[in-house]
Amino acid sequence: MSKTIGIITGSLRKNSFSGSIADYVKNNAPAGYTVKLIDIGGLPLYSQDSDGEELKEYTDFRNEVKALDAVLFITPEHNRSIPAALKNALDIGSRPYGHNVWSGKPGAVISQSPGGIGGFGANHHLRQVLAFLNVLTLAQPEAYIGAYHTLIDENGVLSNEGTKGFIDEFLAAFAAWIEKVA
Ligand code: FNR
Repeated sequence: MSKTIGIITGSLRKNSFSGSIADYVKNNAPAGYTVKLIDIGGLPLYSQDSDGEELKEYTDFRNEVKALDAVLFITPEHNRSIPAALKNALDIGSRPYGHNVWSGKPGAVISQSPGGIGGFGANHHLRQVLAFLNVLTLAQPEAYIGAYHTLIDENGVLSNEGTKGFIDEFLAAFAAWIEKVA
């Protein structure tokens, strides 16, 4: 039976670079895997006050994550860290206390930027949060994709063959990691 990798991107931008990578992954999933894009843009800002309530957006999101076999995060860097929308989603999934839906999931991180260091700061801030949430995050290969604006065509579709090959190898390593920790 095929396993499901959920993709969560850290960008709410239309025509997002992260979304462009997500589209490539969706269309080039490893054999035996299906890819599901998880939308975090409609999640209200988290407050601990909501822990005792059944907020539909939160419940639906937590159930979506629970059903995944693995999670791939694809994110830009905002001010050397992860975008607020992504942190909000991570926090929502981590609560109420004792009901962390991320726990035990195999995970992986791809960061991208138009800049030269490929969102390194966001990538590692995210890894710090994922370690605490008990996400079993792929260590190697790392994926910092720099100068992303030069790797796409006029429609925003990933077109650089070297980057496609790198992502294919990254996904193969992620699939092997998922099998290993399952
Ligand atoms: C950025 N950007 C950015 N880039 C970077 O390499 N390091 C950084 O610290 C920041 N900081 C930052 C803050 C804010 C508030 C914005 C809006 C942007 C640039 C940004 O990460 C870049 O355009 C992304 O590649 C866009 O990705 P998406 O949103 O298209 O997926």
